[in-house]
Amino acid sequence: MQIFICKNDKEIGDKVSSEILKLVEKKPAAVLGLATGSSPLGTYTALVIKAKQQGVSFHQVTTFNLDEYLDCSDPKQTYHVFMAEHVFNALDFDAKKLNFPSLENLSSYDEMIAKAGGVDLQLLGIGVNGHVGFNEPGTPNDSLTHIITLSATTRRSNSRFFKDNLDLVPKQAVSEGLATIANSKHIIMIADDLTKQTAIHHLLYGHGDPNVPATALLHHPNFDLYLTKELYEAAK
Ligand code: F6R
Repeated sequence: MQIFICKNDKEIGDKVSSEILKLVEKKPAAVLGLATGSSPLGTYTALVIKAKQQGVSFHQVTTFNLDEYLDCSDPKQTYHVFMAEHVFNALDFDAKKLNFPSLENLSSYDEMIAKAGGVDLQLLGIGVNGHVGFNEPGTPNDSLTHIITLSATTRRSNSRFFKDNLDLVPKQAVSEGLATIANSKHIIMIADDLTKQTAIHHLLYGHGDPNVPATALLHHPNFDLYLTKELYEAAK
């Protein structure tokens, strides 16, 4: 794991978006693994601005999102809508190349990724409890795309997107598994919020621990962790 300590989330967004652009310029038909939530927002904002300025096309790029809620009470909070609003509608993506896990493709999602050539660059956030994708504590390292019941910690944390009303937060999701994520050629994880302090501490000093799912990635040969200085100082 390589650690990049940045001044703030703006610097993270700037650096990570440059990594994505560098890949797409070198390999126009790259396969991107994408995350939603607060952590990658700065990266997506910078990516859209710079791709437009530099005239980089995403038309040949294939994307696989990590996860999607099941039975989402508020259609505006689905990850399909998040991605459309923050990334897909702003650039020249080909709608036919944008993939999300669902009840329909659950058992073939990993095969779809393999058929596309595997994920070149996987963006990740990390949950307060150390989840990646929606792989909650206890998820086996060899898991593939599956249905997951969201933990109480995750539902409480995500209630901020549902008017702080826990009853409105979905109870289940479809998520890539830990093995799906670990199969990516390059992983970039972003963490910029102090609520992630304990989870990041485990990544900095921990060993593989099924109670902290992100530690399943510790042995990945190409795993970059982008942290704000404030979070790094709090977590170390
Ligand atoms: C989202 C995802 C989740 C989030 C995590 C952190 O697609 O897979 O693992 O990355 O819950 O969420 P934020 O960034 O909102 O703190």
